[in-house]
Amino acid sequence: MRKQIAAANWKMNLTYQQAEKLLTEILNARLPLGPDQQVLFGVPFPYLIMANSEVADDTNYFIAAQNCSDKKSGAYTGEVSAEMLQSIGIRYCIIGHSERREIFKESHQVLGAKVDICLQYDITPVFCCGEPLSIRDEGTQNAFVQTQLEESLFHLPAEQFQKLIIAYEPIWAIGTGRTASTEQAQEMQQHLRAVIRNKYGAAIADAVSILYGGSVKASNAAELFGSPDVDGGLVGGASLQAQEFEQIIKALKQ
Ligand code: PGA
Repeated sequence: MRKQIAAANWKMNLTYQQAEKLLTEILNARLPLGPDQQVLFGVPFPYLIMANSEVADDTNYFIAAQNCSDKKSGAYTGEVSAEMLQSIGIRYCIIGHSERREIFKESHQVLGAKVDICLQYDITPVFCCGEPLSIRDEGTQNAFVQTQLEESLFHLPAEQFQKLIIAYEPIWAIGTGRTASTEQAQEMQQHLRAVIRNKYGAAIADAVSILYGGSVKASNAAELFGSPDVDGGLVGGASLQAQEFEQIIKALKQ
């Protein structure tokens, strides 16, 4: 079975002390996870080393960066490279979150370069895609999200593509409390898997985890994750509360 993943996206929240407390509380809950279940914590850069030492060698829990530079190294003040992440033992990085695309104007091309550089340093990109409300209202969301994948990912050879995690996050559902319906999430994710199948074949399409993100909470996670093409969630707000996120982890398919 493909991996079922609960990924926390803390964004720019929590002090160091709050972050440490939240992480230890969730880890101390010792939720029984199967070999195909994973939990990722997307934490702010300054907390990566602390967080990585908390999960240590656990086989189910991993730490992710929320972004990295599309450049290898050099005079890019304030940027953090994939090589730096690798050098502190980070193996996952969220790429192309809609907040990065919208606020920081990250283009398909820049995101493609970030994916490439992550893979070069053995970091698994959690590649985010998703349409704004205007596109959903027009009914052209399938083509819109397909283009995001094609433009930033489809230059990859199959052996690289198969390392990715995809997260579908409709922008109108992020931080709004308005979750996509289970049918809307399933329909899009089935479409994306079909697009991947066309390009890379059935084995790769069936193996890639596609997460849903956008107002996932303890109360709706089980229903969303129950859909055949929804392999877990990328969770913002609800990942900041230990018990809420623990319930979301428990909602992963077995
Ligand atoms: P949300 O955020 O769960 O707060 O809607 C999801 C995300 O942005 O990844």
